[in-house]
Amino acid sequence: MGAEKASHVPISNIAHRRTHPSPLVVLIATVFLFFTWPTTSTATRLTQIPQTFSNFIRQASQPLLEVFQVAPPVLTPFSNGFHSTTDPITPTTASTSEGCATQQTLMVNSFANSYGTPFVGSYSPPANCNFNRVTLNLTVTSAGRQFDRLGIVYLNSTEIWRTSTAEPTADGIIWTYVKDVSHLLALWREPQTLIFDLGNLIDDTYTAAFNATLVATFWESAHVSDAADRILSVSNATAGENNLASVFTVPPAIASNEITLPRNVRKAVVSVSATGQIDEEFWYTNTLTSLSNTFNASGVTLLPYSPFREVQLYIDSTLAGVVWPFPVIFTGGIVPGFWRPIVGIDAFDLREDEIDVTPWLGLLCDGNPHNISIAIAGIAEDGKGGGEIAVGVGSYWLVTGKVFLWLDPEGSVTTGAMPTVESPAPSVQLSSQVGKSSNGTNNTLSYSVDVSRDFSVNSTITTANGTSSPSWTQSLTYSNKNELTNTGVTQYATQDTSGTDLAPLRPYARRINYPITVNSTFTQTDTDLSITGVINRGEDIFVAGDPVFPTGLESFNVSDVDSQQFQGTQLSTSQNGSAYYLRSPALNVSSGTTSQDLTLTGVRVDGFDGFPNVQSDEELYARSVTAVNGTVTQDSETLEGQGINGFEDAPAPLAGPNVWAAPNAMKVLGRGSGDNTVGVAGPP
Ligand SMILES: *[C@@H]1O[C@H](CO)[C@@H](O)[C@H](O)[C@H]1NC(C)=O
Ligand SMILES: *[C@@H]1O[C@H](CO)[C@@H](O)[C@H](O)[C@H]1NC(C)=O
Ligand SMILES: *[C@@H]1O[C@H](CO)[C@@H](O)[C@H](O)[C@H]1NC(C)=O
Ligand SMILES: *[C@@H]1O[C@H](CO)[C@@H](O)[C@H](O)[C@H]1NC(C)=O
Ligand SMILES: *[C@@H]1O[C@H](CO)[C@@H](O)[C@H](O)[C@H]1NC(C)=O
Ligand SMILES: *[C@@H]1O[C@H](CO)[C@@H](O)[C@H](O)[C@H]1NC(C)=O
Ligand SMILES: *[C@@H]1O[C@H](CO)[C@@H](O)[C@H](O)[C@H]1NC(C)=O
Ligand SMILES: *[C@@H]1O[C@H](CO)[C@@H](O)[C@H](O)[C@H]1NC(C)=O
Ligand SMILES: *[C@@H]1O[C@H](CO)[C@@H](O)[C@H](O)[C@H]1NC(C)=O
Ligand SMILES: *[C@@H]1O[C@H](CO)[C@@H](O)[C@H](O)[C@H]1NC(C)=O
Ligand SMILES: *[C@@H]1O[C@H](CO)[C@@H](O)[C@H](O)[C@H]1NC(C)=O
Ligand SMILES: *[C@@H]1O[C@H](CO)[C@@H](O)[C@H](O)[C@H]1NC(C)=O
Repeated sequence: MGAEKASHVPISNIAHRRTHPSPLVVLIATVFLFFTWPTTSTATRLTQIPQTFSNFIRQASQPLLEVFQVAPPVLTPFSNGFHSTTDPITPTTASTSEGCATQQTLMVNSFANSYGTPFVGSYSPPANCNFNRVTLNLTVTSAGRQFDRLGIVYLNSTEIWRTSTAEPTADGIIWTYVKDVSHLLALWREPQTLIFDLGNLIDDTYTAAFNATLVATFWESAHVSDAADRILSVSNATAGENNLASVFTVPPAIASNEITLPRNVRKAVVSVSATGQIDEEFWYTNTLTSLSNTFNASGVTLLPYSPFREVQLYIDSTLAGVVWPFPVIFTGGIVPGFWRPIVGIDAFDLREDEIDVTPWLGLLCDGNPHNISIAIAGIAEDGKGGGEIAVGVGSYWLVTGKVFLWLDPEGSVTTGAMPTVESPAPSVQLSSQVGKSSNGTNNTLSYSVDVSRDFSVNSTITTANGTSSPSWTQSLTYSNKNELTNTGVTQYATQDTSGTDLAPLRPYARRINYPITVNSTFTQTDTDLSITGVINRGEDIFVAGDPVFPTGLESFNVSDVDSQQFQGTQLSTSQNGSAYYLRSPALNVSSGTTSQDLTLTGVRVDGFDGFPNVQSDEELYARSVTAVNGTVTQDSETLEGQGINGFEDAPAPLAGPNVWAAPNAMKVLGRGSGDNTVGVAGPP
């Protein structure tokens, strides 16, 4: 049910009670502003962002603190030409557009008591611009005290953006994130209902609203991308038709739809968006189910289903591919002091992963409905020290999917045999050890989980262009170790996920590596709560060929791209930091140091016969930034090797105890749902 969707719950917090949504109140879009600017010269003026927004931002006595996600630049029209988002001053080497550009304000809304009442507006494609690129600018301000919240944006029942909020300060914060949504061109070309669901709740303690504007920029680029002709969704369409969030909450929901594809599909890719919440938010710290009562005697229950998760795609109940998720950490996660003003990797733009289903087109183009289903698996133990990957995890994951289709001419019919699926039993290794105190009670627990899996689908299909043999091959490895000491007061978790996906004909190749190490110590007395944490994590993604989603390469010299100078990108980012949180009657302290490095590199590869090898590469963008106690102390950025946005006069970090106004609730790693919350646990 749309009503039982997740976003009413602070995403880094445990809600103890289920809520009933307030009666439906549908907010109809109140603001529709429309801007165009002539395209005669590169210096032409784009009408600035709607005046309404400035009225919307509270007159603050101090400038709002800018929070941000470190991300590669996105090319988008600015008032003075085409620039990258990271560099509004110096033009980038990206070419300017020859075509039109126009903006639409899709939303101006204050998310206050917004649980169960998403913002609803109507969208019509701009009439005066033959656009082939679309970017979205989401700008949000917030002041007061508030949890982090998840936001999901839909066009009708199709999810277009999954984001989350930063936690505000008393004086107020602001952030802007610009997202390239050109891969959704087929949706932007139709009239749609925009549903922006960001469930927030306000009471005497959690006072802050999230004031948000969403502006779409439509423009025409000389570099034509191969966006899908049609996009179908795997979602709760009934909720969407009722202007509610159409995400599935799994469990208890089953994320499946019966979908009838057009018969002339030549290429098909399914993307999945899946986010663990509540008991599943810190899934990589969950324990083996058989060990979840280890510290019962100390009143601590550990969360089950193992620290391994797999998102599975099924077509008519046959496995068609898997996603091993990236451990997203929201801004209240582990210790909030890590995440201001630098938010966690992907926190403002949660990634979707893609599974090529072209080998299934012989089946999918038969004119009949087929069951496309997305399930979340953990590890089920066999009682003898072993286990297997099995569907079924705690509450809950928010899941949607999209089916991207590229079509042959009308009247053509794609045919082919059932694909051959090779899915050998994954290797699953489990081990654990319990240590006792001298009086015999369990005091320490360590466990490790190692998983590897190979998966492939091959077939032969016939499209308008002839007969071909598409395949989808995945090879993945995972390793996790958790060590709990002092009956779970300290938890050290280290995990590494890596793997390759390959669809050689398309072509498409991706290699991922997601290392993470978190060590946190959580001490609670009747009056005080303290948490210390150390974190070290990374996200490395190599993508080559024709991915569905923009890689960032689109923002660089168009002729470089057109001339096939690069066939892919390597995105590498890492964050490390330490943070402290104390809540006591006398003092609230939240402090922390976080450093992040990010590089985006253009790569040239040797072909797609096997997994492509990199022949040469060139750094396109790099940023290295450090923040201490809420203030950026070091920030350097280079675009194609040139320094930009120099940071010569680094302000000194705030002196003395930096008492933040919002001691936000958080959930501590892997502990049971009994006593993990600080303050009020979300809505009644
Ligand atoms: C995004 O919108 C904000 C607020 O309207 C504006 O200040 C900012 O310049 C915009 N950024 C980009 C890259 O469009
Ligand atoms: C958000 O908007 C509300 C309603 O207009 C306003 O009262 C509040 O001050 C705004 N908050 C911020 C941080 O701008
Ligand atoms: C873009 O790349 C082409 C080919 O490599 C080069 O000739 C041109 O100078 C570049 N343009 C800019 C603006 O850097
Ligand atoms: C989206 O929903 C609206 C309202 O139900 C409908 O008029 C419109 O045709 C739908 N758009 C698409 C692309 O299905
Ligand atoms: C100690 O931990 C083991 C393994 O989880 C469990 O079977 C046992 O019941 C625990 N002992 C106590 C006293 O809680
Ligand atoms: C541990 O506590 C849980 C939850 O309170 C309870 O269901 C379970 O029976 C207990 N197990 C043991 C071994 O004491
Ligand atoms: C689709 O398949 C899934 C998984 O095999 C199953 O749980 C679900 O009930 C099926 N849905 C329909 C509508 O048949
Ligand atoms: C499918 O093709 C891939 C790549 O050519 C190959 O590695 C795999 O073994 C094949 N699988 C089947 C089931 O034929
Ligand atoms: C057993 O020893 C531990 C560690 O010394 C202590 O925290 C705990 O309270 C003791 N439990 C009992 C039942 O004596
Ligand atoms: C059709 O096949 C030719 C030759 O194999 C290939 O070059 C071309 O890219 C294909 N076109 C499409 C739309 O797949
Ligand atoms: C985790 O942190 C605790 C408390 O600071 C420390 O004693 C322990 O050595 C750390 N563990 C690891 C593996 O670094
Ligand atoms: C950051 O805040 C903490 C806690 O108030 C303080 O101990 C520390 O000295 C501060 N760091 C800097 C560099 O000011």
